[in-house]
Amino acid sequence: MIFSLGVHVTPFMPSKPTSRLSGFYTLTVQERITLMREQVVLSDEEADLLSEGMGLSLDRANAMVENAVGRYALPLGIATNFVVNGRDVLVPMVIEEPSVVAGASFAARLARRGGGFVAEVDAPVMIGQVQLVDLPDPLAAVNAILADRARLMAIANALDPVLVDLGGGAQDIQVRILDTARGPMLVVHLLIDVRDAMGANVVNTACERLAPELAALTGGTPYLRILSNLADHRLARARVTIPEDALAFETFTGAQVADGIELAWAFAAADPYRAATHNKGVMNGVDAVVLATGNDWRAVEAGAHAYAARGGQYTSLSTWRRDRQGNLVGHLELPLALGTVGGATRVHPTARVALKILGVQNAGELAMVVASVGLAQNLAALRALATEGIQKGHMALHARQVAMAAGAVGADIDRVAQAMVESRAIRIDVARSLLNKDSAS
Ligand code: MEV
Repeated sequence: MIFSLGVHVTPFMPSKPTSRLSGFYTLTVQERITLMREQVVLSDEEADLLSEGMGLSLDRANAMVENAVGRYALPLGIATNFVVNGRDVLVPMVIEEPSVVAGASFAARLARRGGGFVAEVDAPVMIGQVQLVDLPDPLAAVNAILADRARLMAIANALDPVLVDLGGGAQDIQVRILDTARGPMLVVHLLIDVRDAMGANVVNTACERLAPELAALTGGTPYLRILSNLADHRLARARVTIPEDALAFETFTGAQVADGIELAWAFAAADPYRAATHNKGVMNGVDAVVLATGNDWRAVEAGAHAYAARGGQYTSLSTWRRDRQGNLVGHLELPLALGTVGGATRVHPTARVALKILGVQNAGELAMVVASVGLAQNLAALRALATEGIQKGHMALHARQVAMAAGAVGADIDRVAQAMVESRAIRIDVARSLLNKDSAS
């Protein structure tokens, strides 16, 4: 562990496997699994979970949610080329949208030219909130709570001695007075280091336990007792430096591409309408890994967008600037409340395999990869938008989806898709008529 500038950074240890699997996309699914297994040690059973069925049994699904009647599968792709803190990482991504896995892999290949992504993460401190109303004396209540901080934290810690043994537990208690439409309220923030958990259960349990104590101390009435998804003590950051010449393609010079990406960022930084779409591009990458690892993507989404509005105006989560040498430098910072223990991360068999493929040892390492993927995804989108537009790359994959929606299977999918791309008419009626023509002949 390295401590710098108050930031808890967990660098990866370099290891042998490579994520540079050239031509991966040209292989069959089985060939990809075989190639991936040359890099990542997976048992036969784990490999079968990827190719056969959905990993999650109906029994397990039934134990996870109420009124279960089935399971819902999504594609799981592997983004290649990622280097994070000097370590090659194969990145499992669960996503329904075409182009995302390809975009991340492409951007990670560009990033490799500059040594890959450098990421860091804060200590995994989550915030729990207890709302107190009807206070006889709000200021006296603040003083009473702060004066009793140590006892309150000890009560919270007694709920989970294992967490404390692991180095986690209550870190602080802070108090805010809010002026609301229903009059003044006190909000108590309980800061808990949740280690490798996402933290909702630990935090909510502690808030519920402390609420009566806070009521007794203040004479107020406690209402909500719940974690905040604006996990702004638990930030992850990723940085990438891309040499200008690596950005050149077709008729575009590297300088033009870098300049276009900087202009795209400036647009998002200044305009919430654009920032929403810009950040959606970031979250395409973030959510796909969050979902693959069985984490709560709604919590991550809520935290990211609240963080993007922290200054009073919704803005870009990332920055893209050129340095003195003309290199393009990207940076992303966002809250990432992710777990590698507890919840679906351990219950969903495919999520366990995804964590194994990532090779991450703890939640901090996972967050650093996720931030890097978000930055890569953002780069892929901005590079396309600032040059040839996104439709060119998107259409071939979109055409395959349209072909499948029209009923194409097997080799017909690519044949129909290609014919639609060539005729520049990617529509379900065109796909149907191409399929019918084929079956009639
Ligand atoms: C589409 O899923 C994501 C983009 O709209 C992101 C962006 O505009 O930056 C391409």
